Amino acid sequence: MTDIRNEPSHEAEAIGALLRDNYGMAGEITALPGEHDLNYRVRSASGEAFLLKLHAPGAPLELAMQMAVLDHLVRVAPDLPVSRTLPDMNGAAISTAHVRGERVARLLTWLPGEVWSRSAARGDESIETLGRLLGELDRSLESFNHPGAVRHYAWDIGRAGMHLENVGLIEDAERREASRVILNRFTTDVLPRLETCPRQIIHNDANDYNVLLDGEGCVSGLLDFGDMVETWRVIEIAVAGAYALIGTADPVETIGRLAAAYHAVNPISEVEAELIFDLVCTRYAVSMCMAARQIRDNPENTYLLVSQDDVWRELQRLQRENRSIAIARIRDACGFAPIAHAPRVERWLERNAHAFSPVVRPVVAKPTVLALDLTAHGPDAQAWASLDAAGAEALVDQRVAEHGADFAIGLYGEDRVIYKGDAFETASPGARRTVHLGVDIFAPAHEPVHAPFSGKVAFIYDDAVPFGFGPTVLLEHQTDGGDVFWTLYGHLSRESVAKLSIGQAIAAGVAFCAFGAASENGNWSPHLHFQIVTDHLGLEARMHGVGVRNHWQVWRAISPDPSVILGYSVPASVIVARDKAFLVRERHRRIGRSLSIAYSDAPLKIVGGEGTYLIDEDGTRWLDMVNNVCHVGHCHPRVVKAAQTQAARLNTNSRYLHDSLVEYSRRLAALFPDPLNVCFFVNSGSEANDLAIRLARAYTGNRDIITVDHAYHGHLSSLIDVSPYKFAGKGGEGRPAHVRVAEMPDLYRGRFRYGDEHAGREYADDVRSQMAALAAEGRRPALFFSEGILGTGGQLTLPAGYLKEAYAHVRAAGGLCLADEVQVGFGRVGSHMWAHETQGVVPDIVTMGKPIGNGHPMAAVVTTEAVAAAFANGMEYFNTFGGNPVSAEIGLAVLDVIRDERLMHHCHVVGDRLMDGARELAKRHPIIGDVRGHGLFNGIELVRDRETLEPAAGELELVIAQMKQRHRILLSSEGPHHNVLKIKPPAPFSTEDCDYFLNALDDTLATLSY
Ligand SMILES: Cc1ncc(COP(=O)(O)O)c(C=O)c1O
Repeated sequence: MTDIRNEPSHEAEAIGALLRDNYGMAGEITALPGEHDLNYRVRSASGEAFLLKLHAPGAPLELAMQMAVLDHLVRVAPDLPVSRTLPDMNGAAISTAHVRGERVARLLTWLPGEVWSRSAARGDESIETLGRLLGELDRSLESFNHPGAVRHYAWDIGRAGMHLENVGLIEDAERREASRVILNRFTTDVLPRLETCPRQIIHNDANDYNVLLDGEGCVSGLLDFGDMVETWRVIEIAVAGAYALIGTADPVETIGRLAAAYHAVNPISEVEAELIFDLVCTRYAVSMCMAARQIRDNPENTYLLVSQDDVWRELQRLQRENRSIAIARIRDACGFAPIAHAPRVERWLERNAHAFSPVVRPVVAKPTVLALDLTAHGPDAQAWASLDAAGAEALVDQRVAEHGADFAIGLYGEDRVIYKGDAFETASPGARRTVHLGVDIFAPAHEPVHAPFSGKVAFIYDDAVPFGFGPTVLLEHQTDGGDVFWTLYGHLSRESVAKLSIGQAIAAGVAFCAFGAASENGNWSPHLHFQIVTDHLGLEARMHGVGVRNHWQVWRAISPDPSVILGYSVPASVIVARDKAFLVRERHRRIGRSLSIAYSDAPLKIVGGEGTYLIDEDGTRWLDMVNNVCHVGHCHPRVVKAAQTQAARLNTNSRYLHDSLVEYSRRLAALFPDPLNVCFFVNSGSEANDLAIRLARAYTGNRDIITVDHAYHGHLSSLIDVSPYKFAGKGGEGRPAHVRVAEMPDLYRGRFRYGDEHAGREYADDVRSQMAALAAEGRRPALFFSEGILGTGGQLTLPAGYLKEAYAHVRAAGGLCLADEVQVGFGRVGSHMWAHETQGVVPDIVTMGKPIGNGHPMAAVVTTEAVAAAFANGMEYFNTFGGNPVSAEIGLAVLDVIRDERLMHHCHVVGDRLMDGARELAKRHPIIGDVRGHGLFNGIELVRDRETLEPAAGELELVIAQMKQRHRILLSSEGPHHNVLKIKPPAPFSTEDCDYFLNALDDTLATLSY
């Protein structure tokens, strides 16, 4: 940028006069760069900025096009960050200016931001926001037509073939040849497919000087519609990609990210996704040809030479990529199968697996197979790292003998450290190939290899380097549908391979080659590397046997799991561990979006649990204070053992007699007073509550239900109906006609508060009112739902006498009373086994879930003999999984641990310590408005003002984030105002855990400014 004061003074004067006379504006004027036009930033006296463009004469149609598109976008996409034309004082969009000749003047709104090429904030967000912007722009441009854009334009890479005639002008031979190859490929391969794709007018020049970024790196503006052209839509992505990837660590990832973001708002086809990589290369080739022509015409233009070095550097980076993998990765980024036909091949293999012949030892009907662990963490890791081929063979033999196996295998998907050297590097820094794409089958040299199904010899190669594949063969096969794929056999004997010829047919089951010895197989212990190949990446028999972990979803499609062919009795593959970004992406893609992720800004990948701790993939231990499901502690060994033992013995439905089920029902019912004697076993808290509704309706003959405001009782339709937390919240459909909502008894901020000794009765009066309202409509209640402590209500303890009074009103009206112990049961409240017992009531139905199986999906309903009898009306109650022997054994183990580890008493002691400690903190931290709970089910309510009780929800969010980041404590919020810190850790939460939490909370609250 140059200050206009340095320009010839008559120019500055002319511009000043133009602004004054035509736009009634005075201001500071700064000249900006521009290839043909003169551009100026004008800052008016009020500080507002504008862009003044003085167009070079001679392209009226193009100018008209630029003006028309902005008018179009104002109408159809007013929110797009593009300039708006400002009329002059006569209402005209253009006027005439005399600056370096006669020019057309236009005043435009100024777009904020820094140009992409200079922005320090450039990053993934920039690429994604650019992709989305271009997607939205192109959607808006679908309905735009202008003759100025329908042109034979050299910068339209849809016409790249025309540049072939200029390739010879490129001076450097290497660059010349590269451009020629790309342009030839464009003509023969790209263009015919491009011609099947949608066409429209596109911006065509989202380059790094035309895109603006804000301080966060998000796109804040798109400039310059002067290169618009009517062409194939996908070129928009390719042009932007050619600039966006400059300087990024992984250019293919950048292109994929951009394409995916575009695709998310303006879906592209598989063909378009497949063409982007070649089109980016084409853009570079066109750029080199155009530059060569310009240099010929203007030899003094050295700037062009410099910019061409950048183009060449980026093109070389793309050329180092394997084109097939790059295309597969871009397809994958857009959500398409990385290899289009791979899913069909996999389905064909699954369908036909029963007919495949064994690859090794067909005479052994069901071989005993030993799976070796060749990772860095396996039991023999040290040995694998240090042994030579003979030593490794001896160790394999030893292990096979120890296990009485027929042979050993090495697993598909294993991430191995044994692959050393440059051959395992890829074009992307840090993306080494380490993950095994095949299954290794270990057996002595000369062991025959059989074809699993018919095929023909397609490729042969002798990879005769240390740790290479040695002699390698690819057989070609075809599915019924005509999809071609290959099976790869590596580490073969030279002699056996020498007998094969390309094109030779191989029948199913035929022994067509043999295992090689270490001396010829790349210096490995003799084994066969067996791999499926859906795309040999142009590498033919030099195909890779190891892929990149971070791109596993692509490699897995290139070489699917060969277990389907081998059919061994032990797993021949492992799940490849992926990073969090990928797991989030896949969750969003493959799992319903309404499933939320905790700490979504920085989610955790949890791989283990122990006691009160969760353990992430790095081994970091997180104190878990929200998991009342793993009630007796994560992975409690007694519960794990019970599950393992019973699962190994028997698991079936409850239609057969089984000691464990009957014993469990006896133990569970014994935890309740008479007449709560009869159990039903189900699989989730929701199912328990749903069954409870059916029980109550069968017994009472009534249909209506009363529930407490803000409550949640489960995710089934019947329970969303009785959960104000859901039906009155986002996406909810409101209160159904058969449900009445009782006022939530909130002693902290409700109508009747702490200190009101009649609060229980007063709140229960609302239950009576609901009964009266029902009666007035001639209806009667079936069931009253309540928890013993209100969870979603905000961890609220009930006022004394509330349930007693409420139950009396409900029963008087003919209804039954249910205690939902799904959250709070099994001794958590410390003083009692069940939270409702703190209210001195005996319900008609109790439902249990979460803690009952310590994480195993099981739940139960306990009710009276009378209610159960009414339900046994002839319709059978069958539940496939409920009450299965594994669940029963797990349930028994949980009860045993609660008893033997005195967990109820422990919850009492530690819960009191926690609440006492929190109340001490409240003395120092006025933001703590209330501390409440029973045992280890607690709420700490944060308020901005203890008088007004203004909820401190934002502050709580910060506290939860800080407790995680700084102290590795996992917590969450609860309550209608989202301002209650929810506490419900596994019951073994120790006094040390408690003190650690209190100190951390003290520290965190001290950092809040209030
Ligand atoms: C009080 C209450 N009841 C029932 C349920 C439903 O249990 P599940 O998720 O096992 O279906 C929940 C779950 O959060 C709950 O909190």
